[in-house]
Amino acid sequence: MSITLTMIKPDAVAAGHTGKIMDMIIQAGFRIQAMKMTRLSKEKAEEFYAIHRERPFFNDLVAFMTEGPIVAAILEKENAVDDFRKLIGATNPEKAEPGTIRKLFAQNIERNAIHGSDSDANAEIEARFFFSGLERF
Ligand code: RTP
Ligand code: MG
Repeated sequence: MSITLTMIKPDAVAAGHTGKIMDMIIQAGFRIQAMKMTRLSKEKAEEFYAIHRERPFFNDLVAFMTEGPIVAAILEKENAVDDFRKLIGATNPEKAEPGTIRKLFAQNIERNAIHGSDSDANAEIEARFFFSGLERF
């Protein structure tokens, strides 16, 4: 079994899509190992997306990710990282496959509803960013 870390982003939480998105994730075979609703501070958002610090969209991304609460979760499944990125679809919803979470719920390339880890190593780093061992089941 492997894990991935997801965040339902502020746009999708504010629009009331949390339940529908979590249902799609569970129906796709992911087991919830940990889950919480929280709001990122500017400092924590900058830390989470530090790899994008030099990108032109970095300040916009941090503003977006701090505008309201998110739902973070650790998801467990065989091949979790790749299978989850297939379920959420391409970063830009215009390029996302039909039926993917971003195709259904994202507004544009930035306000794109959901995050998924991009590697097993980053999944573990991101899981520890949000959750202590006592919060993982
Ligand atoms: P994520 O990390 O959130 O799962 O998204 P991703 O791997 O599909 O995309 P990534 O390249 O890691 O970008 C992180 C997030 O930054 C925002 N973004 N905005 N305005 C833009 O051109 C742009 N490009 C990326 C998106 O919110 C993207 O998910
Ligand atoms: Mg990414």
